[in-house]
Amino acid sequence: MNHKRLLEPLAHRGLLYSNRIVFSPLTRARATSDGVPGQLQAEYYLQRASAGLLISEAIAIRPDGRGGAWTPGIYNEAQIDGWRQTTDAVHAAGGRIFAQLWHAGRLSHSSFHPERLPPAAPAAIAASGRVVLESGAAPYETPRRLTIDEIEQYIAHYEQAARNAMEAGFDGVEIHGAHGYLLDSFLRDAINNRDDAFGGSVENRARFLVSVIGRVTDCVGAHRVAVRLSPNTTAGDMTDSDPEATFGYVIECMNALDVAWIDVIEGNNMVTRDVPGGLDTDILTRAFSGGIILNHGFTFDMADEALAAERADMIAFGRDFIANPDLVERCRKGLPLATSDRSVWYGGGGEGLIDFPPHPASSEAAQSSVSG
Ligand SMILES: Cc1cc2nc3c(=O)[nH]c(=O)nc-3n(C[C@H](O)[C@H](O)[C@H](O)COP(=O)(O)O)c2cc1C
Repeated sequence: MNHKRLLEPLAHRGLLYSNRIVFSPLTRARATSDGVPGQLQAEYYLQRASAGLLISEAIAIRPDGRGGAWTPGIYNEAQIDGWRQTTDAVHAAGGRIFAQLWHAGRLSHSSFHPERLPPAAPAAIAASGRVVLESGAAPYETPRRLTIDEIEQYIAHYEQAARNAMEAGFDGVEIHGAHGYLLDSFLRDAINNRDDAFGGSVENRARFLVSVIGRVTDCVGAHRVAVRLSPNTTAGDMTDSDPEATFGYVIECMNALDVAWIDVIEGNNMVTRDVPGGLDTDILTRAFSGGIILNHGFTFDMADEALAAERADMIAFGRDFIANPDLVERCRKGLPLATSDRSVWYGGGGEGLIDFPPHPASSEAAQSSVSG
């Protein structure tokens, strides 16, 4: 099959994307202990700069937003300077890159908080599972229930992080509203048992996410903002009793705020694409007035079909980008895809990160590396 639709350029809301392939956000946990990225990340993103849009790995908006050891942040000068190496490299290669703004919520750990406070959450209910620390994996802790004053501070920190991302040279930001992290844990009703302005009704549960979207769009411009949602994903023990109403309301708010992109994970991420009884995400995307990025388990054939059926404007590929830096060229030439071993996904150095070669038949094989 000729995947010509995936390779078509796209002009959307004043930005030009060279093709419809999005490099999906991938945490690789190779920043310093203090969350500072550097040359390694610059080289890694440069190698993948031919994607129409790169979305960075999740980047913490504040120290207690980190969801594991060696994950990066964007809350201090060293991190902003570190990210500038990546954005400069990607731009020099003609690429476009958004920063994914992240707060891991109760899936973080007190050791990341400057005052060692328990992780932030809507309610003091621990998640099942473990967080990776430099000393090894530790069970998730019982988090602290954020006060309304604290929520207001966190919203301001999202805005500051968006400002920092633009200062670091990113072309836009993606607000991470998925995977059971802070904003998702307020939005869905699995653990949000609050009876104040941030819990109870759909409007109240969505208030944190929608406030963040509002402040970030005001700050960087709605045309530079994407929002990632995962209505069918149970990571972080997330569920919702009425996902159509919950996410439908978020879409209404995103339309009112004129958000440029929605990035929807269709299935239960990393578990299964097909979720019996799950929400048909087409209901959400059809109601959205901006651009649509779909993700999860796409092959090139499936992606081209989704574009042809006008279900999406771009398709995000995650795992395939790990071992195929030249994924776009492999798509263009119909070259076989390499696979990666899970053991290299998180943590370590350049091995398993920047040492996957382009296919010998790929014209990107001659791609230059970052210098200096
Ligand atoms: C190693 C790894 C790290 C990931 N890190 C993130 C992340 O930081 N932010 C995010 O929104 N999704 C993250 N994801 C999910 C991917 O963006 C994507 O949704 C998932 O891989 C499904 O797409 P695929 O089937 O094309 O791989 C990660 C996935 C993997 C495999």
